[in-house]
Amino acid sequence: MRISEETIRRIKDAAIIEEVVGDFVSLKRKGANLWACCPFHHEKTPSFSVSPAKGIYKCFGCGAAGDSVKFIMDIEGLSYPDALRYLANKYNIEIEESYTPNELHEQARSQRESMLVLLNFAKNFFKTQLLASSEGQSIGLSYFKERNIHLSSIETFELGYSLNDWHALEQAALKQQFNPELLEKTGLVVVKQSQDKTQRYDRFRGRVIFPIHDLSGKVIAFGARALKTEDQPKYLNSPEIEGIYLKGETLYGIFQAKKAIRQADHCFLTEGYLDVIAMHQAGIANVVASSGTSLTEEQIRLIKRFTDNVTVLYDGDTAGIKASLRGIDMLLEQGMNVHAVALPEGEDPDSFIRKQGAIAFKNYLQAHTTDFVSFKACILLTEQVRDPLKKAEIVREIIQSVAKIPDAIKRELFIQQCTTALQVREEIIRAEISQMLWKAAQQRKQEQENILTNKAQHQPDKSLPPLPEEPFGEKYDGIPDELVDTTRVFQKSVTHIINRHEQECIRLLLKYGQHYLEDNLKLWQYLLHEIDDIEFHTPLYRRILEMYKDAILQGEEPDVQYFIRYASPEVVAIVANITESKYEASPNWELMHNIYIPKETDKLPIAVYENILRLKKEFIEKLESETFAEIKRAEKHQNDQQVVSLLQAYSQLAKQRVAIAKELGNVVSVRSLL
Ligand code: CTP
Ligand code: MN
Repeated sequence: MRISEETIRRIKDAAIIEEVVGDFVSLKRKGANLWACCPFHHEKTPSFSVSPAKGIYKCFGCGAAGDSVKFIMDIEGLSYPDALRYLANKYNIEIEESYTPNELHEQARSQRESMLVLLNFAKNFFKTQLLASSEGQSIGLSYFKERNIHLSSIETFELGYSLNDWHALEQAALKQQFNPELLEKTGLVVVKQSQDKTQRYDRFRGRVIFPIHDLSGKVIAFGARALKTEDQPKYLNSPEIEGIYLKGETLYGIFQAKKAIRQADHCFLTEGYLDVIAMHQAGIANVVASSGTSLTEEQIRLIKRFTDNVTVLYDGDTAGIKASLRGIDMLLEQGMNVHAVALPEGEDPDSFIRKQGAIAFKNYLQAHTTDFVSFKACILLTEQVRDPLKKAEIVREIIQSVAKIPDAIKRELFIQQCTTALQVREEIIRAEISQMLWKAAQQRKQEQENILTNKAQHQPDKSLPPLPEEPFGEKYDGIPDELVDTTRVFQKSVTHIINRHEQECIRLLLKYGQHYLEDNLKLWQYLLHEIDDIEFHTPLYRRILEMYKDAILQGEEPDVQYFIRYASPEVVAIVANITESKYEASPNWELMHNIYIPKETDKLPIAVYENILRLKKEFIEKLESETFAEIKRAEKHQNDQQVVSLLQAYSQLAKQRVAIAKELGNVVSVRSLL
């Protein structure tokens, strides 16, 4: 147990140093402070002072010093928490205690273990009822028989039966000294508060029980099916249990299937408990169920521990098909190889096997397994879609799935597949995919920005002193030492500015590179020529510029789409980031309001010129600050000759900078007139 931070603060605020110390020695006021003979060493004249304003004491004789808490610790020989308790007692402050992370961890662990033991007990109890009680045999067992569940499956899946009784499980558990609170926490017992009394009763009554196992075979929850479904829900499931059972992270049958999945390097994904069991009985052991919820990333990761190959096998009804389409996209996003089977309408694996047998089922799987593109095309394009708009929508829907495949080579294969299955030209598919990838990049960028701005708000960076207004005067008379540190700051701010102008340069190149600034002069030709000697500071921008130049050398004129298609994800993200503007005026706006909105292309020549000047200016400033540091170094080594030549270079740079700044001023004022 630990005293909470809040309580510590309250104790320290309440403790009045002269009162605390005054309980042990008699203090006399002299000026602003109070004085006494030091209680920590022997003395005849007072050298022990207490400052009420600061809340501290200090002995000028022996050096003892501290605040109220420290005083109590030393004078009473108490530990820090006990000293706090002492003061809390003196000032009537209630102590709030909290568990240390370790203690919490220990508690949670032991509670988790107790719950697992209880769940295991319940599983055994349900199983015994099924096999050994007369109600279990006559109702539960005969139901399983009716559904063609073998005894061996009852063993493998540890199936059970819950008696039609309000307290059967609870009483059995309490008899075994299980904690009533845990019965409630695991959801085995429901507690209901109604007006003046509390009701407790078993959650599962008169149902067949499907225990849900984790990867290691421990029972973590139950699914329970009613035998008659007219007047009650077909399935009841355990509630989620913190630290033990999260629905979205569990797959039914994974424990029983994992070995077979690894061996086959393949996993069937179906919906229901009974589908898993029926397929096992049909000799297909590599199968798990998502249990009627839509597939989650965690569930897919669970499968991915054993294989990358999944075949989706959902019910042949509309809900099942919808669920399978959603599942397919999720699987593709996680880099899985996805196949699918469309089952006959109204059938799930269990009902198919029961009606037609295991062999027919396996034959059906063989004949009807398709890749996901054909699957989607087959489902969505069933009725001859005549309406071209509708068809375009469906095509887009299918291509969307292809765009989710993270691996470019695999994506390529499916692009080919799409052209044949959908009868659409390849360029159209490519264009569509580029756009989707682009949108995804935009979204990621937005998310990242959100994270960044949130962080910035929480941790303001106060470590940097403000930037000096004019770090370098025109006149030079030795560099004062206190400026040395500011060069660091200065360089930092230069980097920052350069980022912005480098970014603008890249943006202009990508967005408008092929625009003509004059007859026979494209923007990229002018811009690249002008910044030929400038080295970009930001690695990613430098990379983009190099890619751009390379492409030019190859006879290509790269644009935004070019980068989205060929660049790495980081570069694509950056490109998406900087070429997309927040306020793109819609063309309708102009028509609607009958006003002229100047387009960026109208101002391109001056924008490019300004960008070049800014890049040059900032580049020179960077050289200046580097030279500056070198001068400082040469001064330290008393290398006078070097200092002189560096100073010459330095003043050259300064002159250039001034000239560029002047020109920049002209440009900016001209631009504002446009
Ligand atoms: N499910 C659930 N709760 C429900 C309905 C369904 O948890 N109220 C889950 C169960 O895991 C079930 C799966 O969704 O196994 C599929 O549901 P469904 O197809 O309706 O049931 P089946 O498993 O086919 O069961 P049965 O054949 O007995 O109808
Ligand atoms: Mn079924």
